[in-house]
Amino acid sequence: MKTPHFLQVYQENTDAIRHELLKGLSADPRHGGAWASPKFLYDALGSRLFEAITELPEYYPTRTEAAIFAEHGSAMAQSIGAGSTLIDLGAGNCAKAARLFGLLFPQRYVAVDISVDFLRDALASLQRQYPALEMLGLGLDFSDGLELPPEVGDGAHAPRLLFYPGSSIGNFSPSQALSFLRSVHAACGPLPESGLLIGVDLVKDTAELEAAYDDPLGVTAAFNRNLLLHINRLTGTDFELAHWQHVGRFDVPLSRIEMHLQATRDVTVRWPGGGREFIAGERIHTENSYKWTQAGFEQLLSQAGFGAATGWTDPDKRFAVYWAMT
Ligand SMILES: C[S@@+](CC[C@H](N)C(=O)[O-])C[C@H]1O[C@@H](n2cnc3c(N)ncnc32)[C@H](O)[C@@H]1O
Repeated sequence: MKTPHFLQVYQENTDAIRHELLKGLSADPRHGGAWASPKFLYDALGSRLFEAITELPEYYPTRTEAAIFAEHGSAMAQSIGAGSTLIDLGAGNCAKAARLFGLLFPQRYVAVDISVDFLRDALASLQRQYPALEMLGLGLDFSDGLELPPEVGDGAHAPRLLFYPGSSIGNFSPSQALSFLRSVHAACGPLPESGLLIGVDLVKDTAELEAAYDDPLGVTAAFNRNLLLHINRLTGTDFELAHWQHVGRFDVPLSRIEMHLQATRDVTVRWPGGGREFIAGERIHTENSYKWTQAGFEQLLSQAGFGAATGWTDPDKRFAVYWAMT
């Protein structure tokens, strides 16, 4: 049986990762307070919990984006063309890309994700479903910019279709999003048929947004709190779940959902060589999810270097998908 090639660039047990996490956790409350990058939400359990989130009635982004693909998939395929290398950024369970195979007929599929074990399993299962399609898995952290290794192949001969669905772009601040998209534009390579297919969540009513990030079943809370278990494994901290609760709120002026973990009592957290106190109510900032207007996002794509962009939305304009050519 064919197994996909897998290249693991991201290694989680490094001093650099411990340093990044402990620096964020030690940050002074007078200067924004403790934080952890949302990329650490995704260990294997975090990836499964995210899959469960996408099934929740309140989590409209996944099903709205899927409806846009169902409605406009043929028009997208006409604009994009067939036969590219499909490079899936933050592929997760690879399900979204797989639904495009019958529309876009990629000649190769490259799945990129920081959640290495989860990706490995998802890709192996996908390869069994599509034995003829060449596949490559890349365990990679692209938070500081996308740099594809040579194993991805030559962007000068086959067009590249960079795929970044799910509004993961919202995890970056607008200035970080610009520099990330510039790196994505560079990764598209020189061919004019190459480009980026990207999903973005649009500004909407606060109640609808907050329900999507703080569901009554508590799945998003479990996803957020699981970060502490992941941090315990990566750094040797002794976080106890019982002392932390999930907070998900929309900040209207900043146009972003913020997720935090809030101490339910005074807590001392220790780690090898250090530790810190959190007073009751103090928070660790764990994720932002920026919501864009269509005009703002089109401007961002253009500033990042992309040429003509075509957008599709659902009838209520809750979510948009853009095809931006290099
Ligand atoms: C919101 S989920 C989206 C999953 C899937 N693409 C979808 O749209 O349903 C974000 C995905 O990006 C991955 N991810 C998050 N930060 C990353 C990073 N810095 N580098 C690589 N992958 C990352 C996560 O592991 C997760 O699979």
